[in-house]
Amino acid sequence: MILPIYIYGQPVLRKVAQDVELNKAELEPLIADMFATLEVSEGVGLAAPQIGKAIRVVVVDLSMLGEEMPEYKDFRHAYINGRILESSVETDTMSEGCLSLPGITEDVTRPQRVRIEYYDENLEPHDEWVDGFLARVLQHEHDHLEGHVFTDRISPFRRTMLKGKLGAFLKGKARCHYKVKTVR
Ligand code: NI
Repeated sequence: MILPIYIYGQPVLRKVAQDVELNKAELEPLIADMFATLEVSEGVGLAAPQIGKAIRVVVVDLSMLGEEMPEYKDFRHAYINGRILESSVETDTMSEGCLSLPGITEDVTRPQRVRIEYYDENLEPHDEWVDGFLARVLQHEHDHLEGHVFTDRISPFRRTMLKGKLGAFLKGKARCHYKVKTVR
C-alpha cells in the first residue's frame, strides 16, 4: 500500500520516535508499505514519522545507485529501533533533500562515519560502523526519529532564505508527484 508522505509542519515530524515491539507479523507489512511508498516517491530513505508514525522504523533503498556505486546494488534494508551511538570527527558536506520538504535541497555538513545499532528486517541485532553515502542517509533518517529535519542543520542565513518555501508548506502547499499530507 502506498502511503501519503507527511509534509513539514506536521507535528509528528517533531516528535521523538519510540521503539517498537520486535513483532515480525506487525513489522513486515509496515516495512513493505514503506518500501512501496519510497519507491513511488523516488527517494532513498524514509522514516516512519514521514508516514505519520512516531516509531523507530527506517527503510533505505540505494539500489538505484547500483550502477555508479556497485556496493549499493540491490541495497534495500530496514533499520528497526536504530540509534546512532558514535560519530567520526571527520565531516563531509553534501547536498540533501527530503520527501517531507519537496523542492528544497541544501548543503548539510555531517560526520563521515557513524556507529549505529539496530535490528534488521529479520529482527537480527547489529552494531556497526557505516560510511559513505549510506552513513549520510542513515544520519538524515535517524534525525527524523529525533524530531529533526535537515533544514534544522543549515545556517541561520540559509534558513532565512527558505522562509517562503517553508511557509508555503505550513499553508498546505507542496508541489511534488507523490501523495502528501500537509498540515492543513
Ligand atoms: Ni527526510
